[in-house]
Amino acid sequence: MRARGSCLLLLVLALSGAAGAADFLGPESCKGCHPAAYEAWMQSKHARAGDSLSDAQKTDARCLSCHAPDQGSQGVSHVTCETCHGGGQYYSPAYVMKDAELARLVGLVDPSEKSCRGCHDASSPSLKPFDFVESLKAIDHWSAERTGKKGTRAEAPPPEPAKKK
Ligand code: HEC
Ligand code: HEC
Ligand code: HEC
Ligand code: HEC
Repeated sequence: MRARGSCLLLLVLALSGAAGAADFLGPESCKGCHPAAYEAWMQSKHARAGDSLSDAQKTDARCLSCHAPDQGSQGVSHVTCETCHGGGQYYSPAYVMKDAELARLVGLVDPSEKSCRGCHDASSPSLKPFDFVESLKAIDHWSAERTGKKGTRAEAPPPEPAKKK
């Protein structure tokens, strides 16, 4: 079997980094290429989930596990793009993002109903049981993305893709 060089390199990176252990770049890093998705997410409660906690609760691992699960390990608060889609370190570069298969190989996640239920479970304060289809509609940030002004799902990459400092 032969693989393209870049593909093989990224595969090695992904394996050595252990799946799911890629670093987070933060939601601002996605904004330049996914402006519509970013705006829609900003309107959702996920973007402010950490703010629902008092100062004392912000240090309580029991609350952080759902309201800001990546704060301790990645320094990124709230329920962000990468909480659901996986750490962007390896899939964010434009040439990877354009290759749907490669992006998934190096960490891009398609969030499943099960992943929502990891937080929207019986212990969350919602009075109604979690309805996946309804909840998806409430966090829709892909319709705008797909019907973006240029008719493409994502805009052309900016001259300087965001990098972690
Ligand atoms: C350099 C620009 C760029 C950056 C930065 C970027 N993306 Fe993308 N992303 C793209 C492009 C281009 C596509 C492909 C869109 C298409 O096929 O129309 C894409 C596709 C996606 C898809 C859909 C994949 C599929 O095949 O269905 C998701 C989800 C996604 N990006 C999430 C993110 C997240 C989360 C971040 C931040 C961590 C991010 N992207 C950062 C350019 C970028
Ligand atoms: C298992 C995941 C989970 C844990 C753990 C958790 N929460 Fe939540 N929390 C949620 C979810 C999901 C919602 C939104 C419920 C809904 O409206 O559907 C929520 C909503 C809230 C709200 C209401 C916010 C609003 O906008 O009305 C507050 C306040 C809150 N949680 C505080 C806490 C505190 C304090 C802790 C720790 C003692 C905690 N939560 C632990 C999942 C969790
Ligand atoms: C609570 C989890 C969650 C968060 C937070 C989240 N997403 Fe998503 N995202 C999803 C789900 C679920 C889908 C797929 C919906 C579908 O296809 O039915 C999706 C779809 C997308 C798509 C479209 C993929 C396609 O096939 O066209 C893009 C792009 C995207 N997200 C980017 C982002 C960006 C950028 C952020 C942060 C600004 C973000 N997402 C935050 C769950 C999330
Ligand atoms: C890491 C934990 C986590 C995951 C994963 C997660 N959520 Fe949430 N979600 C929350 C928390 C916490 C809140 C409440 C935020 C607040 O108000 O403080 C919330 C709020 C919401 C709300 C708003 C509820 C309201 O009262 O308006 C919707 C809708 C929602 N989530 C849908 C989803 C869907 C759909 C998925 C899966 C694609 C998902 N969530 C995945 C933690 C999570």
